[in-house]
Amino acid sequence: MSTGRAAVVTGIGSYVPPNVVTNEDLSARLDTSDAWIRSRTGIAERYVVSPGTSTSDLAVEAGLRALKSAGDQEVGAVVLATTTPDQPCPATAPQVAARLGLGRVPAFDVAAVCSGFLYGLASAAGLVAAGIADRVLLIAADAFTTIVNPEDRTTAVIFADGAGAVVLRAGSPDEPGALGPLVLGSDGELSHLIEVPAGGSRTRSAGRPVAPEDHYFRMLGRDTYRHAVEHMTAASTEAAERAGWRLDEVDRFVAHQANARILEAVSDRLGIPAERRLSNIARVGNTGAASIPLLLAEATAEGRLTAGHRVLLTAFGGGLSWGAATLVWPGLQTTE
Ligand code: UT7
Repeated sequence: MSTGRAAVVTGIGSYVPPNVVTNEDLSARLDTSDAWIRSRTGIAERYVVSPGTSTSDLAVEAGLRALKSAGDQEVGAVVLATTTPDQPCPATAPQVAARLGLGRVPAFDVAAVCSGFLYGLASAAGLVAAGIADRVLLIAADAFTTIVNPEDRTTAVIFADGAGAVVLRAGSPDEPGALGPLVLGSDGELSHLIEVPAGGSRTRSAGRPVAPEDHYFRMLGRDTYRHAVEHMTAASTEAAERAGWRLDEVDRFVAHQANARILEAVSDRLGIPAERRLSNIARVGNTGAASIPLLLAEATAEGRLTAGHRVLLTAFGGGLSWGAATLVWPGLQTTE
């Protein structure tokens, strides 16, 4: 599909809701402890939506900041990567586009759970390459705590809420910010490892009453962990190879913030030292699709990610789904 038009990152922004929930807060109502959560996940606290706040609310805030960072409010399409749309139907992206005052642009959701940002990058790059849009706003937002069972200690301590966004414009493949090769994959044989069993056509057409807990998110943690390490390592290796980079040339490794131990295991396998690995999981938890752009925005604002850095991105999530991509970081204004 190459038209010679690359998608180039030109703006970035993020948003987290104001409510902070600490490990002590969770330990007060669940059979868990700060020590367990920190040692098994690396998480100390996370942001959680207030009653009544939905994914589109988070997405609009992150989108506003990304548009401001790009310095131009006009885009030709909006893509929203999310696991937690405001409603099962319609998609949430058109409402986000309307609330951002972007007019009647094409707008759609991408559902790839925690790999959503990378699948969203592929969609945005495709819109640009096909000449459908010259500028695309890609937002990744999840109000993950709205689907997590508050009584399930195996997921309630990990997942959290937030949003990140980038603006991509048509440009040349050799300029800073141009997306390099994208590696994507899935394995539907293992869809049961991460799921919300009810709420879709499968349970509706069965015509049987659904147990209330089937509307909540479930994850088989140990198996998921193993596949996350395997696929993020393989996808990262392939993306770097396709970009013509040696892994020791990667300046910043930005992986989906699933679990600090997973991040360490993947970067150890890749031979990427800790100082080149960006992480904010201790403060924000696992924010699903939002985690990569949230981290990119924060690291840019804090100067941990600067123009010229060779960046390797990777993600893994339900589906199963995974992906990796490379880009040389551009000079960006931030509004964080
Ligand atoms: O973002 C999308 C992809 N998601 C991921 O990649 C997440 C992958 N998985 C994980 O991050 C980890 O598997 C978890 C953090 C979910 C769990 O950590 P683990 O080290 O794999 O623990 P485990 O499931 O093997 O459980 C160890 C023990 C169990 O007790 P027993 O059977 O040894 O007696 C659990 O019942 O820890 C227990 N446990 C807890 N204890 C205190 C599980 N959750 C908790 C908890 N607090 N919150």
